[in-house]
Parts: sequence; structure tokens; C-alpha cells
Amino acid sequence: MPSYTFDFDRVFSKDEDQASVFSEISKLVQSALDGYKVCIFAYGQTGSGKTHTMMGPEGGAGCDGDSSGVIPRSIRQVFENCSALEAQGWSFNLTACFLEIYNDTLRDLLAAPSLKSKKDGGKDEEKLDIHHENGDTIVRNLTYVPVSSAEQLLVIGAC
Ligand SMILES: Nc1ncnc2c1ncn2[C@@H]1O[C@H](COP(=O)(O)OP(=O)(O)OP(=O)(O)O)[C@@H](O)[C@H]1O
Ligand SMILES: [Mg+2]
Repeated sequence: MPSYTFDFDRVFSKDEDQASVFSEISKLVQSALDGYKVCIFAYGQTGSGKTHTMMGPEGGAGCDGDSSGVIPRSIRQVFENCSALEAQGWSFNLTACFLEIYNDTLRDLLAAPSLKSKKDGGKDEEKLDIHHENGDTIVRNLTYVPVSSAEQLLVIGAC
């Protein structure tokens, strides 16, 4: 077996809360706003706390409180930054997409019901495909929804 040397940037103690975790993540959200490509990857065995950390308790129910997770906090940070810059004369068009990859299958979670195939309960995997364009990875035919507020996006994300 090869051996690898690595460090953790940060290890959180059991007493640290969602705000503490997000204090690390928020720098990545800022990087995304600055134009960098950012990916947050939650990995762990079942029951280890991925959904709790990313969404909040019960998968995000009541996610506007102190217990809300990384996703609702990130959404709020994006909109707060936009508001601050709009006050200086900038304007933004924000769109959201919601893509699931499960067992190597792409699923467009925002596809309109009329576009979904009937046989698998409404998934849309046939017409989605990944391709690369000018250094970007694009999923063709993915649904993009214009969003104008954090609250709207939190509802779309079912949190
Ligand atoms: N840091 C935490 N503080 C309090 N409760 C937590 C914490 N992390 C996880 N839990 C709780 O432990 C349970 C399992 O966590 P969670 O559902 O987030 O696991 P998961 O990694 O998403 O699992 P799965 O892979 O099955 O989806 C949930 O009831 C969750 O609320
Ligand atoms: Mg989960």
C-alpha cells in the first residue's frame, strides 16, 4: 500500500457549532464571488453528519436560525454581498441550478414536471450531458432559474 502525507487545515471539536464551521467556509464563498471555481465536498459514512453540516438539522427545516448549515448560510452571504455592491452601483443577475449525480446518473432537480420522463417518477436524465467549454464544465439542458432573493433560493432548495 502506498502511504500519503497530508494535513488537515482545521479540525473542529465536538463543541463547535454551525457558525464556527461556516467561518471557514465563508472564505470559499467569497472566492466564488471573486470569480474562482469553488467546490465544497461533504464526505463520510452514513449518519456522520453531511446533511446536518450542509443543510442543518432535519435536512434544513427551519434553516434560518443559528442551526442552519453551510448551504443556507452561503446563499445568504452571496445575496448580502450583492446588496452591498448594488449600493455602489453594481448590478447582478443570479441564476440557480440543482443537479444530482446518483449512481452515475445526472438528474435535473429543477426540471419542470412536463419535461420529466414518466417512467422513473419525474427524472430527466436522458437529455442531460456533460461537456467542457472554454475551461468550464457545462451540463447541457440543465434548468437554470432566475433568483432574486435568498428566501426564494432557500425555498427552491427545499430548505
Ligand atoms: N454536529 C452535529 N450536532 C448535532 N447533531 C448532529 C450533528 N451531525 C449530525 N447530527 C445528527 O446526526 C444524525 C445523522 O446526521 P446526518 O443525517 O447529517 O448524516 P448524513 O451524513 O447526511 O447521513 P446519510 O449519508 O445517511 O445521508 C441526524 O439526526 C443529525 O441531525
Ligand atoms: Mg444525508
